[in-house]
Amino acid sequence: MRIPELRIGQLSAKLPIVQGGMGVRVSLSSLASAVANQGGIGTISCIGLGNIEGSAEVCERTSLEALINEIRKARRMTDGHIAVNFMGVLSNVDDLIRASVQEGIKLIVFGAGLPTRLPTLVPDPGVNLVPIVSSARVAELILRTWDRRYERIADALILEGPLAGGHLGFSAEQLEHPEDYSLEKLLPEVLETIKPYEDKHGKKIPVITAGGIYTGKDIARMLSLGASGVQMGTRFVCTKECGVSPQFKQAYLDAKEEDIVIIKSPVGMPGRAINNQFLKDLEVKGKLKISCPYRCLTACKVETARYCIALALLNSYFGDVDNGLIFCGQNAHRVNEITTVTDLIQELLRELEDA
Ligand SMILES: Cc1cc2nc3c(=O)[nH]c(=O)nc-3n(C[C@H](O)[C@H](O)[C@H](O)COP(=O)(O)O)c2cc1C
Repeated sequence: MRIPELRIGQLSAKLPIVQGGMGVRVSLSSLASAVANQGGIGTISCIGLGNIEGSAEVCERTSLEALINEIRKARRMTDGHIAVNFMGVLSNVDDLIRASVQEGIKLIVFGAGLPTRLPTLVPDPGVNLVPIVSSARVAELILRTWDRRYERIADALILEGPLAGGHLGFSAEQLEHPEDYSLEKLLPEVLETIKPYEDKHGKKIPVITAGGIYTGKDIARMLSLGASGVQMGTRFVCTKECGVSPQFKQAYLDAKEEDIVIIKSPVGMPGRAINNQFLKDLEVKGKLKISCPYRCLTACKVETARYCIALALLNSYFGDVDNGLIFCGQNAHRVNEITTVTDLIQELLRELEDA
């Protein structure tokens, strides 16, 4: 099989593989640039980069500085394609987006919230806007709104299914029946929904599927169904280039299928994580004491939240996994070695060619 390029707007990535944005601090410049150097698209996550011990002002200022630093570091390490992933619920999301564009980022990936105002924030058509959606309904809502208000459409869509890691765009009830929302079912619906917009604007909207894609054979299946590329997260965590603590990676290596659970996040969305000591203790304690001077997430109800998600994810990043949350995709239990981005991509390409 000839491996197709992934074209988004004026950009063309040699490989149809996107490394998904992973917070907190899971996908930074080192991982993103390694993927970009292989010909894929590497994504820096801008979540939780700030100093959460200070005030809101300190948290927001330091997160902005850290993001700019990560973008510049990535630029020094690669000439390839680098995206930045944003969550709509971040309190300073607008500032982070503006700074990324100023730093020359050409791929803005937006999830966890509707990107209704994104085209006003980023009017330059040379910067590609890539919303994350979980259904044809949301894809249509975004495209219709952008078409009517701004005469613009998305430059690509990431369609994230129910097997993905981190926060999920499905209800807890829907996640009990992931087969009803499989990418195989969602993708044709999304492709049909976007068609009239593609025709009207005379432009293809590439759809990149995400969630549970694990092997080159999975990639081949997605491409054969009409996806223009795939986004993968879980498989990139246990690479040398991913900067999380060894304890975080070990939790992936140790995880069994039954250890992977759906949690209710303080962000107000379900998420997928490893059922570790932190989650077991939380079950007993009910709620942890939170001190929150910074309000990093607009959607977080600090008064009723059971824990501070920024702190819990940071703890795991730094290695204190017993006091931390470990996000993962449904297939994390299949990960059984630490590899390099080069070896992982080579393996995926071999399998893709065989398929
Ligand atoms: C540890 C972890 C953290 C993640 N954090 C984010 C995030 O901050 N924002 C986001 O849009 N997606 C996030 N994701 C989702 C990934 O970008 C990707 O779409 C998803 O994991 C794909 O499914 P897979 O893990 O089965 O490959 C996260 C995934 C993981 C595993």
